Amino acid sequence: MSLELNKTFAAILTAGILAMGTGMLADMVVHPKALHENVYRVEGVAAAAPAGAAPAQPAAPALEPIGPLLANADLAAGEQVARRQCAACHTFDKGGRNQVGPNNWDIIGNKVAHAEGFNYSPALRTAATAGKVWGYEELNAFLANPRAALPGNRMSYAGLRSAQDRANLIAWLRRQADNPKPLP
Ligand code: HEC
Repeated sequence: MSLELNKTFAAILTAGILAMGTGMLADMVVHPKALHENVYRVEGVAAAAPAGAAPAQPAAPALEPIGPLLANADLAAGEQVARRQCAACHTFDKGGRNQVGPNNWDIIGNKVAHAEGFNYSPALRTAATAGKVWGYEELNAFLANPRAALPGNRMSYAGLRSAQDRANLIAWLRRQADNPKPLP
């Protein structure tokens, strides 16, 4: 082999070894490993908690959309859920007072932090500034796990586990409005 060819060969070999080396080094530095949970998140379902915040409840499995359950929801059962689970803190009638929580008349499709004169947490005010509204699925996620859906909010409520209960409640909430929004 000519000297030139030898040099070229050596250069290619060196480049190869370097590439292998950096690959291994990169692995050592970056520690690639499988993700523990899906990175994909449904809008409004769960956002990462801000650094230093108390850990959210264990990540709930992805929520089924509530839309299909709403059409056959039981309004009377929904009203019962509201009385038992929400009425300690919320009124739902037109012009009702803010209590521990804001009045929730006409909440479906309304903007987040909608109630006049209620002292909302920065978490809700930030969401409001970002233009968030209480669509059916946003409300579904929030009621299932308030803390995970809107980290830092001040609603001391653990969440309503049963999708059927949420559907009944949301269908009833929809009726607490002059012009109920169309079902999804
Ligand atoms: C222990 C009191 C408490 C209970 C129980 C409670 N909430 Fe709340 N809720 C609050 C407070 C306080 C806020 C305001 C949170 C904030 O500003 O971070 C709130 C906020 C909300 C909002 C957002 C309103 C807006 O203007 O953006 C909705 C919707 C809501 N609650 C629905 C419900 C429903 C439905 C239930 C029953 C399943 C319920 N809440 C149970 C205290 C409560």
